[in-house]
Amino acid sequence: MKNNRIGLKLGFVIITVFLIVLVFLGFTIDRLFTSFYIDRMRTENEELGSHFAVMAQSDSTSGEMMKTFAEFSNVSIFNVNANSEVILHSGTHDSSDRKIIRSSDLERIFAGKKVNFLYTEPSGIRYFVSGQPIYVKDVAASALYVMSSTEKMEQSLLAVRNLLILSGIGAFLLALGITWIIAQYLSRPLLKMQQATRKIAAGDLETRLDINSNDEMGSLAHAINDLAVDLQRYRDTRQEFFANISHELRTPITYLEGYSQVLQQELYETVEEKNKYLGIIHDEALRLQHLVEDLFDLSKMEEGKINLELDWVNMSDLTQQAVRKVELKAREKSLSLKYKENGMMKKIRGDKKRMEQIILNLLENAVRYTEKGEINVSLSYTSSAFLLVVEDSGIGIPKDEIPYIFERFYRVEKSRSRQYGGTGLGLSIVKKLVELQGGQITVTSEVDKGTRFEIQFYQQP
Ligand SMILES: Nc1ncnc2c1ncn2[C@@H]1O[C@H](COP(=O)(O)OP(=O)(O)OP(=O)(O)O)[C@@H](O)[C@H]1O
Ligand SMILES: [Mg+2]
Repeated sequence: MKNNRIGLKLGFVIITVFLIVLVFLGFTIDRLFTSFYIDRMRTENEELGSHFAVMAQSDSTSGEMMKTFAEFSNVSIFNVNANSEVILHSGTHDSSDRKIIRSSDLERIFAGKKVNFLYTEPSGIRYFVSGQPIYVKDVAASALYVMSSTEKMEQSLLAVRNLLILSGIGAFLLALGITWIIAQYLSRPLLKMQQATRKIAAGDLETRLDINSNDEMGSLAHAINDLAVDLQRYRDTRQEFFANISHELRTPITYLEGYSQVLQQELYETVEEKNKYLGIIHDEALRLQHLVEDLFDLSKMEEGKINLELDWVNMSDLTQQAVRKVELKAREKSLSLKYKENGMMKKIRGDKKRMEQIILNLLENAVRYTEKGEINVSLSYTSSAFLLVVEDSGIGIPKDEIPYIFERFYRVEKSRSRQYGGTGLGLSIVKKLVELQGGQITVTSEVDKGTRFEIQFYQQP
């Protein structure tokens, strides 16, 4: 019950609205029926009065006949002369109760008008009273009152009311049942979702919801499932990330430790050997420095704390500078490194240092993963976009690994790293930096043929 509060609230609201409508409707129907009955009885009573008046005006009708007719018609009659004296009375109404005969009414009747009103006897019985003149030789000679008891009408009304209350109760119970079903229908998936999210929060990330409806509930359940998948992936990559970091740090540290010990204990024979070990120590220290810088960049980007220093950047200059920086390494491997430019040069909005980092990373990869052939760098300016292409004729990337190369620490075949010395952080940084500056990076590659990275930035008008 405690968990079913939504169902209760919902049910309460629906039932309250329903009750308001029901009471309002019942009241209106009751009013309609009551006024319909009253109108009908009033007209009937008035018509009866007219009949009696016609009868009384006929010479052939005696007082006794009038009384008999009155008994048959189940009404009381009073015939009152101009001096307010009752000259004829018949019916169940107490003839000593003369309160219905009011002088103001008599005046109107004797003036030729009809009066109609509702009268309540001291005993509580109510009557419709209709008074009209009886003419003798075109002169109003007396006033005839006809009184019909409202008892029958009240009985009918009571029956209608009972029926209304009964159907109201029926409708209420039906609504209660339907509301309960709707509340259950709506709250059950919510409860399921609540339980699932609690489980997810407690670390059970394999939890999935099985709600397939096509409505908001369905999409909420879907979103929760997606969240669980994301969290699971996040947890797994985080574990992997820490494992990777410790692994990546351990290798250079082992080298540093080993070779510094060799130098300390003077376990070398020649100066060249000593210099070689010093060179290794220097390289490994650099490697450590790069790794720490990359990790620092990545963590800043992931927290969204990286500050871009936006400026108008001349990409041509920047790219040519970067090409010059890797030229030496390319020459060492006898690779041809070419730069080409298409379209009218335009400055684009970006962070100069970060742009250089992007280009250098791609160029370093191209040089690192190409044994023979060429590396082509091209810049293309169009009216709405700017395209940077770094293409090499290197070892390429297998098709099924392409989707992962932008992930942190991802390296194609782990054995490559030993040969080429990368840590797998470069491209993940490149992708983040490109996206941070509103660009897009795509890659196409074929094993043993080469790789082509394309970066596109849309230019602000
Ligand atoms: N031009 C390329 N040709 C072939 N393979 C590539 C190329 N660029 C990237 N790769 C593959 O993608 C992997 C990920 O590249 P990334 O630049 O992220 O890492 P890395 O070069 O190994 O290390 P880092 O750049 O951090 O020093 C590389 O290990 C490599 O296997
Ligand atoms: Mg790299």
